[in-house]
Amino acid sequence: MNDIRMSLREKSIVFIGFMGVGKTTIGTLVAKKLYRDFIDIDLEIEKEFNMSTPEIFKKYGESVFREKEKELIEKFTNQRLKIISVGGGAFLQEEIQKICLSNCIVFFLDLSWESWKERISLIIDSRPVLQGKTLEEIKELFYNRQKIYSKHHSKITTDHLDIESVANFIVESLKTAWELYD
Ligand code: S3P
Repeated sequence: MNDIRMSLREKSIVFIGFMGVGKTTIGTLVAKKLYRDFIDIDLEIEKEFNMSTPEIFKKYGESVFREKEKELIEKFTNQRLKIISVGGGAFLQEEIQKICLSNCIVFFLDLSWESWKERISLIIDSRPVLQGKTLEEIKELFYNRQKIYSKHHSKITTDHLDIESVANFIVESLKTAWELYD
């Protein structure tokens, strides 16, 4: 890990949370509001392999995906002023947790199981980790994963909030932190 010294204002922002909670949508909007570049790590992985995530899992297996995920997260979290969305499984790797928490400001986008399960049909085709699982198994995965997301700097529960309100809340809380601590 590089020892990079950055002011709070310069640090990149990382969004974590379960698949389909809106990391990419909210990240894109926050980036626009702060005039920063948005990086979607899943998309960067897909660009490197020139194939979709389900194809990468099928052809090379999950471990190859996870290795590339770590490499790219390390690369982008070392850069200043980025807004980064990392895949829902990234924090399974302790090294990734450490890199993100020490280099960046980490926001956990929290959504209840009740709200999340309404979205399954929209995301299942592009998420190999969910495929072939019963609803009960997905629910178990959802709750087990909450532990890895408990390591964050800030959390926002997005149930009953529209995307614009979530993005505004994040931008306002960042501005408050910059004023207080920088
Ligand atoms: C995964 C989440 C996905 C993607 C891959 C594995 C996971 O990202 O990285 O399908 O294990 O939770 P999103 O959280 O952006 O859907």
